[in-house]
Amino acid sequence: MAVDLLLGLQWGDEGKGKIVDVLTQNYDIIARFQGGPNAGHTLEFDGIKHVLHTIPSGIFHENAVNVVGNGVVIDPVIFKRELDNLQQFNIDIKSRLLISRKAHLILPTHRLLDAASEASKGKAKIGSTLKGIGPTYMDKTGRNGIRVGDIEMKDWKKRYRALADKHEAMIDYYKAEIEYDLKELEAEFFEAVKVLKELTFIDSEEYLFQAQQAGKKILAEGAQGSLLDIDFGTYPYVTSSNTTAAGACTGLGVAPRQIGEVFGIFKAYTTRVGSGPFPTELFDDYGETMGRVGREFGATTGRPRRCGWLDLVALKYAVQVNGVTQLMMMKGDVLSGFDKLMVATAYKYKGETITHLPYNIEPENVEPIYTEMKGWSQDLTGMTKADELPEALNDYIAYLEGELNVPIKIVSVGPDRTQTIHR
Ligand code: GDP
Ligand code: IMO
Ligand code: MG
Repeated sequence: MAVDLLLGLQWGDEGKGKIVDVLTQNYDIIARFQGGPNAGHTLEFDGIKHVLHTIPSGIFHENAVNVVGNGVVIDPVIFKRELDNLQQFNIDIKSRLLISRKAHLILPTHRLLDAASEASKGKAKIGSTLKGIGPTYMDKTGRNGIRVGDIEMKDWKKRYRALADKHEAMIDYYKAEIEYDLKELEAEFFEAVKVLKELTFIDSEEYLFQAQQAGKKILAEGAQGSLLDIDFGTYPYVTSSNTTAAGACTGLGVAPRQIGEVFGIFKAYTTRVGSGPFPTELFDDYGETMGRVGREFGATTGRPRRCGWLDLVALKYAVQVNGVTQLMMMKGDVLSGFDKLMVATAYKYKGETITHLPYNIEPENVEPIYTEMKGWSQDLTGMTKADELPEALNDYIAYLEGELNVPIKIVSVGPDRTQTIHR
């Protein structure tokens, strides 16, 4: 049995949570493979909006088990808060949510280090969500990290203390003006670790292997987006994990040849939250309308998202790096009423026209070259079938499919679970 993947193709917030929730009815297991509480995945159904950060987006379905994979970094404090929010829904967390022993823990001092590092960068800051993601992955690759499995061991608090002390010295090094009360943060952390310890820990690579042998259907849920990938994104304005398809193999222990469908999800336009280059960014009424109608505010930080036209150069790159087999286009409803739509199909780069993503896409090097498309005026939010979609939208879809050479199988026309059109 193959493991299918669902990945964001832009700078995150494409609507992964919504679509994982929609697809969960077809799967037995939903598994997160990277990132941590920097993610904010929104689901809406029965008039309620849910935002998940670490817990996979299949958690509301009785038929599915949710796995937090080894590639994920977990902040026990945020995790506990997520569990508290779920309490009213009577979910049997012990059997429906399984956590890899090999997942790394975000410590309070990782969050402080993130803040100190960002503060010391001034204008060049990454625009991190300040959840401690970078410092935690640094300790993972530096072989100093503390893993979920460690909290089952007796002496882990000694290792914790040594690491936290080292972090405090590092925070001093930054000379950043951040105020904190570590005693208080640690009390909250150890309280949350107690809650975490009540959950079910597994050797997730073995669990997923056995599940595949038993013919279970598995969907791997990505976080962030391809352009935030530590290797292939707009470095250094990226996150600290591999958000692209290969990350699912290392983040779950699934062999590359077991990967089946790769669902690539993108917005009908582009957004980005945090710093870094964004060639098609808009500073006019079109961008303002996208942000307002699309309610483009970060699900984790509440920051306004920067908005711009669809960038096919970047999207093609993401399709290529991930080996996308099916596309899903989100938020087309937000563009209803636009008199025109622009799509970047090439860049003017150092005087030449190019159609691939170059090493450096800083604004001084890159100017997008646009193709203009017709907009549509119809409200899409009540539509449920592909044959209801307006002609101009069908033209937009056909154009993108032609350029990307991958079919668009889902068109999402609103945040609710039901506002999903299959083609
Ligand atoms: P994720 O991080 O990829 O899961 O995406 P987020 O949840 O951060 O951001 C997507 C936002 O768009 C959420 O507020 C969703 O409720 C909303 N959303 C998802 N799909 C659609 C859609 O088709 N139309 C509209 N208008 N909103 C959508
Ligand atoms: P989901 O899963 C959008 C961005 C941050 C910042 C950069 C580095 O909801 O799509 P980090 O906290 O990882 O050190 O931040 O990455 N970022 C996201 N942007 N969606 C996300 O997740 C993001 N996770 C991180 O804004 O620019
Ligand atoms: Mg999000």
